[in-house]
Amino acid sequence: MQAIFDVIAFAQQVRCYDRVWDCCCDHGYLGMSIVNAALCEKLIFVDQVPHIAQQLERQLLEQPLLYPAERYEVLTSDASDLDFNSEQRHLVILAGVSGKTVVDIVRTIRKTHPLGNIDFILCPTNALFDVREYLVAKEFVLLSESIVAEKSRHYEVLYVSPGDVESTGSQLTHTGAMWDEKNIEHQRYLARIIAHYQRVVEGGNDDRAEGILQRYQSCFSR
Ligand SMILES: C[S@@+](CC[C@H](N)C(=O)[O-])C[C@H]1O[C@@H](n2cnc3c(N)ncnc32)[C@H](O)[C@@H]1O
Repeated sequence: MQAIFDVIAFAQQVRCYDRVWDCCCDHGYLGMSIVNAALCEKLIFVDQVPHIAQQLERQLLEQPLLYPAERYEVLTSDASDLDFNSEQRHLVILAGVSGKTVVDIVRTIRKTHPLGNIDFILCPTNALFDVREYLVAKEFVLLSESIVAEKSRHYEVLYVSPGDVESTGSQLTHTGAMWDEKNIEHQRYLARIIAHYQRVVEGGNDDRAEGILQRYQSCFSR
């Protein structure tokens, strides 16, 4: 969570978002730390499960000094159904949900707000290749990417924008350009991904797996 918080702090410095959306917020810890640190004018917590949103709202209201009411909103909603004010700059955070859910939500938001000023911080639990493949196909621009190790698990944190590569960032790749061959956590994470795709290739049910495996096998040799 700290790693995502740091990316949001960086994002706010460089792009000054009017609204930050902690989508799929569940317990809300990430958004709470953002509200508490006054990192943005307003943070919107979003979860599709009513009792989760209600419980979070109760918790926030109990501590008004830590979480001043004017700095947040809590919405019960599917993150795909959000309404973004086109006059404002938005940062949408999607963390702790599957790669498929991330792609579904980003795709729908882009479709319903094609001209919206909406950037994303994405930290899916799996299927990073699929998420990256979607972002590359849709010509998203990379603002930052990193690998985070936490409790023997690894995550990628992608900060991306649907903007113009010339002016705002660099080109996204299918497997990432952040690999550091000397970093033990990167070694472990890559070994795990390669083992996963080896199993998929052996299973013989996915035509794409061999190509994906080869791309990951060459991550350290670039
Ligand atoms: C595992 S929690 C992730 C919590 C937090 N974001 C994190 O990274 O620790 C997943 C949460 O996402 C919510 N969720 C899943 N799909 C959603 C969607 N399409 N829209 C809104 N919330 C969603 C679930 O209700 C659940 O509370």
